[in-house]
Amino acid sequence: MKGLFITFEGVDGCGKSTQMRFLSEYLMEKGIAPVLTREPGGCNIAEKIRDLVLDIENKEMYDRTEALLYAAARAQHVGEVVGPAVESGRVVLCDRFIDSSLAYQGVGRGLGIEAVMDINCFAMGDCMPDKTFFLDFPPHLAFERMSKKRVHDRLETQEEEFYILLYNGFVKLAEMYPERIVRIDASGNKFETQEIVRAKMDEILKERGFFV
Ligand code: TYD
Repeated sequence: MKGLFITFEGVDGCGKSTQMRFLSEYLMEKGIAPVLTREPGGCNIAEKIRDLVLDIENKEMYDRTEALLYAAARAQHVGEVVGPAVESGRVVLCDRFIDSSLAYQGVGRGLGIEAVMDINCFAMGDCMPDKTFFLDFPPHLAFERMSKKRVHDRLETQEEEFYILLYNGFVKLAEMYPERIVRIDASGNKFETQEIVRAKMDEILKERGFFV
């Protein structure tokens, strides 16, 4: 049986990495050992691309270069990690994936959702997530949280307006792909948010015939 490919998305500072970790613990309790991975990165070559694309020194990087680098990292990650894991029946949890490219490069950088989707279709073939948790957290609060962080990568050194733009991008994507993207109210504390994520995950497992 094919496994399940679940991604976590949202603006920087929305708490997605914590939610993914909590969900992983929940799945372990149920006897499912998920594969945990992230983008950009998740395998050797893609982690090298991550360093390049997030390097704060690379100020002269063109938006199109950035979009292609994320897509290139994704091609490698899908081929090496995600694809084989899902094919062998594993549940894969991935911190960011295609929707980050659509929101950050498509909307944030203004390259257009369609253009960014096109290069990504080439990069990842038919490896679309089965479900995506979009953590809906107020962008001005996410910006505040991120402002407190001492070390920033290239994508995080942005103004509050950029966070709002991205947030609106994710909202638009959730409307475009209502079957796939599950919008999670992440405005409560992390345990409340996790309750919602777990309830949704239970539904997904049931729907897909995982008897746990
Ligand atoms: P992330 O791993 O979430 O950052 P951190 O480890 O600091 O929490 O992602 C790194 C940055 O890359 C983040 O600002 C979002 C951005 N990004 C894109 O712009 N496009 C993409 O396709 C992906 C996967 C990430």
